[in-house]
Amino acid sequence: MKRSVHQLPRLAIAPSLLASDFAHLADEIHRAEDAGADLLHVDVMDGHLVPNITIGPVVVESVRAVTDLLLDVHLMISEPERYIQAFAEAGADNLTVHAEVVEDPEAMAGRIHELGCTAGITMNPDGPLDRVRRAVAHVDMVLLMTIYAGFGGQKFMPEVLPTIRTVREWLTAGQRLEVDGGIYADTIGNAAQAGADTFVAGTAVFRAPDGNAARAIGDLRQAAAGASGR
Ligand code: DX5
Ligand code: ZN
Repeated sequence: MKRSVHQLPRLAIAPSLLASDFAHLADEIHRAEDAGADLLHVDVMDGHLVPNITIGPVVVESVRAVTDLLLDVHLMISEPERYIQAFAEAGADNLTVHAEVVEDPEAMAGRIHELGCTAGITMNPDGPLDRVRRAVAHVDMVLLMTIYAGFGGQKFMPEVLPTIRTVREWLTAGQRLEVDGGIYADTIGNAAQAGADTFVAGTAVFRAPDGNAARAIGDLRQAAAGASGR
């Protein structure tokens, strides 16, 4: 039975595996679990939509085998329709696709739902907001990139804050608004205040300066809760 983004806590922290040590993936996943992760974010890159190449369905299957956390799979790939079934079968719970490469988000969300997953739509900071708007009625989550997708460790772009506010207005109470990129204890508050409720954090959690992922997640949670009106 798949997990649903609708069952997440009011504010949720999603460590991104991209910043973990891939040579010790199960240990890293359990470290995130023990530290209090609410879900796990999995960054899939194809070297085409974005310059980098990362994770495919075989790795998602291995991840699925060692955790019960919701797997939030962010598909930074040019032809998501070709791969959504493979990722769903590998154990993804939520599948998020980029509006830049999905002309008919309604149909895409329908296919993702047929596969038993919840559906997300995302875009880069300069992405097609009109397309995201048309998708809103059909998705469970909107993910706003607060960096240009492709690499971890980039700097949060405050220019996206007005877009977060705009998209929040479009969503119903049950829909999630996730942010991804450069989320740290000193940037998460602004995103939360603007209306985000789900926070991807790679470097901040897996590469916390003191190695303490639990403290990192605790700091993120506290800063988000303090700023959020939700
Ligand atoms: C980048 C990915 C992000 C990345 C975030 O394209 O979508 O999920 O892992 O990394 P940090 O938190 O290090 O900015
Ligand atoms: Zn991501």
